Amino acid sequence: MALPAFIPVSGEDSRPLTEPATKRRHEISTMPVRIHLPSATALALALSACGPTTGAPASGEELYDACENCHGSDGAGNPDIEAPQIAGLPQWYIEAQLHKFRSGARGAHPDDAPGMRMRPLSMSMPNDESVTAVARYVSRLPRQGNHEPKVAGGSATRGSGYYAPCVTCHGASGQGNPALNAPPLAGSPDWYLTAQLRKFIDGVRGGDAAADPTGAQMRAMAVTLPNDQAIKDVVAHIMTFEP
Ligand code: HEC
Ligand code: HEC
Repeated sequence: MALPAFIPVSGEDSRPLTEPATKRRHEISTMPVRIHLPSATALALALSACGPTTGAPASGEELYDACENCHGSDGAGNPDIEAPQIAGLPQWYIEAQLHKFRSGARGAHPDDAPGMRMRPLSMSMPNDESVTAVARYVSRLPRQGNHEPKVAGGSATRGSGYYAPCVTCHGASGQGNPALNAPPLAGSPDWYLTAQLRKFIDGVRGGDAAADPTGAQMRAMAVTLPNDQAIKDVVAHIMTFEP
């Protein structure tokens, strides 16, 4: 059986991001199973080897290769491209957000450049199982605090007043509440929190209540923050929380 037929396949040009050598080794190591098949079938399988619909589904760790460029191998994020820390977010929240990006409920608004950078990557996940697998992997990465502050001029003291109504859903120390679909805020960088509050207020996130009911719920809260100073203050308060 013509083994060379498989070799070019591991180039996987259809994948959006470069694949590290480890992934290629993994795929090559599954070849002995496939070389027993008739060559046409084997070639078809090999050509679609990048889609987990054939053979063993890609693990969460393998799927995460597509995220590393922006969110970092540790999931701590990269402020230069506005990619937030995702490490240690709860699995239910990561899954929910990936589904929103996939459907366009998040990341499709023309004024949401960072969201539009994220959206194609969410769509590269072949199916719901891979969304679950990558979300589980990311949720287990250790969540880090102490991101370099980027937003100046907020008062944590004033912010604690603005944060009072947020406690119901996000918790007194920003730990989140799955029963209310509210994610943890502790450990998210200040520039990201600021940008999200602005997006909620402007309706760039959560602006369509039918497509994004939980985003719309949050939007109703965000609009109670009277001005940019209040956003900075509440974020300064959130930055006092330990992840
Ligand atoms: C091209 C860069 C890029 C890649 C690759 C990328 N992301 Fe993102 N991601 C972003 C940006 C930018 C945001 C912030 C979007 C926003 O501001 O709303 C984001 C946001 C997210 C969020 C929302 C975090 C929150 O607190 O709501 C999750 C979850 C996420 N990404 C997961 C992933 C996963 C999983 C992958 C791999 C399948 C991935 N991302 C690949 C750029 C990227
Ligand atoms: C009624 C419950 C509720 C209250 C009160 C609430 N939130 Fe939220 N918040 C949510 C939900 C639900 C989400 C997730 C939205 C989604 O699914 O996209 C969210 C998301 C967020 C996010 C985005 C987090 C991320 O990782 O992208 C920020 C920032 C945030 N809330 C800040 C606040 C602040 C600050 C307050 C107080 C002014 C507040 N929230 C009050 C429910 C609430």
